[in-house]
Amino acid sequence: MSAMPKFKIELEPTNQVCSKHNEPMLMMFGRPFCKSCSNEALQNSKFSTADFEHMRDQKRFDNAMLPKRHTHCTFENYMTQHSGQKYAKQQFVSFYQDYLKDLKRNGVIVGRTGTGKTHLACALARNLLSKKQNIRYITSEDMSNEIAKAWTDKSMNESTLIAQFVACDLLILDEYGLHDQHETRLQLVHKVLYARYDACKPTMLISNFTKDQLKENLGDRLWSRFQQDKLTMIECDWEDMRSGVVV
Ligand SMILES: Nc1ncnc2c1ncn2[C@@H]1O[C@H](COP(=O)(O)OP(=O)(O)OP(=O)(O)O)[C@@H](O)[C@H]1O
Ligand SMILES: [Mg+2]
Ligand SMILES: [Zn+2]
Repeated sequence: MSAMPKFKIELEPTNQVCSKHNEPMLMMFGRPFCKSCSNEALQNSKFSTADFEHMRDQKRFDNAMLPKRHTHCTFENYMTQHSGQKYAKQQFVSFYQDYLKDLKRNGVIVGRTGTGKTHLACALARNLLSKKQNIRYITSEDMSNEIAKAWTDKSMNESTLIAQFVACDLLILDEYGLHDQHETRLQLVHKVLYARYDACKPTMLISNFTKDQLKENLGDRLWSRFQQDKLTMIECDWEDMRSGVVV
């Protein structure tokens, strides 16, 4: 039988004790949990280890929230018709290979619409998901809307909402600079980027800005933080692939 997969789930101690096993309970995903109860449940379950592994893989893919339109995107079907595309693909593949060697860095991919930025990011995400990494894809606009819920909904807390975007192993933040430029919204996105830097977690930032525009928009302090541990920087300045034009 194959060994149970290892997951980086953070368990925090609680001051509660399981009434059945008289053991201290741990906090997991905001709920108290007893290890012995959970082992018993596992043993009595009709599911095999392989079933559980499959369910966890599925959940990890679902949690990544990759865009449906980019389901087909892989490194293999990313065409390299010129040196720009060759460089972009090679940088993404190196990012992936280095990541697996624990050389984790940030990535920035900027440039014109339809040049395959989201395609490559989704290909990277899928490869890392199959290596049991927790990935989260989100547009900058959706992220700021998500965190801004704390302003109107008293049951939500800004720090907790930010923390959920810091928890994943790799964050893919797409469409930065498109609908997120209201100053207070932008600050929320920047808070996530600062928090991920502090937690030593890599981020892949995607934007239609030019490199200089992005640098100015992020500001010196964030831009400097992004460079730490050798930033992967890709600029896509070729034709829109959506038009089907072969260049
Ligand atoms: N080099 C390529 N090989 C194969 N398909 C490509 C390539 N570049 C782009 N595509 C395809 O073209 C479409 C547009 O690509 P994608 O969505 O990645 O562009 P984008 O750079 O993210 O654009 P935008 O800035 O508008 O979001 C997708 O269906 C993608 O799979
Ligand atoms: Mg895109
Ligand atoms: Zn128990």
